[in-house]
Amino acid sequence: MSSVNLEVSGGVGTIRLDRPPMNALNIAIQDRLRELAAEAGRRDDVRAVILYGGEKVFAAGADIKEMRDMDHAGMVVRSRELQESFTAVARIPKPVVAAVTGYALGGGCELALCADFRIAADNAKLGQPEILLGLIPGAGGTQRLARLIGPSKAKDLIFTGRQVKAPEALALGLVDRVVPADEVYEQAHAWATRLAQGPALALRAAKETVDAGLETDLETGLALERNWFAGLFATEDRERGMRSFVEDGPGKAKFR
Ligand code: CAA
Repeated sequence: MSSVNLEVSGGVGTIRLDRPPMNALNIAIQDRLRELAAEAGRRDDVRAVILYGGEKVFAAGADIKEMRDMDHAGMVVRSRELQESFTAVARIPKPVVAAVTGYALGGGCELALCADFRIAADNAKLGQPEILLGLIPGAGGTQRLARLIGPSKAKDLIFTGRQVKAPEALALGLVDRVVPADEVYEQAHAWATRLAQGPALALRAAKETVDAGLETDLETGLALERNWFAGLFATEDRERGMRSFVEDGPGKAKFR
């Protein structure tokens, strides 16, 4: 068994980190994450994805002990591979929910940022403590955190390295929901299951359009939206959704 696996049930694939005690994200996990993201994207029986680290901890970041002896030349290569792995997770063309328990620090927080939504345990602590190691976030944190919560709030977290408890994370918009610790996975699964029942192609289009739109100008974003919007008229889901609205009433369509 690897330290990170994809477990599938009821249309939901869970990418489960399992490297006690802190799920430190070593190179083997980073590389495997990329493979599992591709697998989750490819498999028809996976319609939504959960990122999960178990009941105690999400992930306390990249493996500092492994990184300690790396030099500049090595990290030039490795940092690209690290970012590619996380980007592969962010680009899974299906809804992704991060279920955050305990610590989500450094690369752990950055992994949660690759999800579309974050549900956190009331005991969760999130942060980007790399500054305390004389570093900056290297797995997308400077970019994805600033886009999610805005530059000044992101700079506060990145400049200080402080840990944010769940209620503050909720207020910052860093997480979307806070629930009792023993309910995090169950609630993430319920959320993902609802999304898994939606129209897969339209969900893919929505995700791609929102994400790509954040990286481009309004005109280009609108063109992308328009093309997808028109393109979805060629899908069975669109036909089913509209027929069901007319014949059964709003919100009754079943897509799987
Ligand atoms: N890498 C490697 N080992 C780690 C680790 C990490 N990121 N985080 C924790 N561990 C190890 C500890 O060294 C310790 O190992 P031993 O039992 O062998 O001593 C074990 O996990 C348990 O940790 P603690 O004893 O420290 O547990 P704690 O409850 O007192 O504290 C913690 C928990 C607050 C998470 C603390 O361990 C901590 O601050 N960890 C580091 C967090 C961090 O700096 N993350 C950023 C990493 S760099 C990065 O992620 C770069 C990037 O952008 C990709």
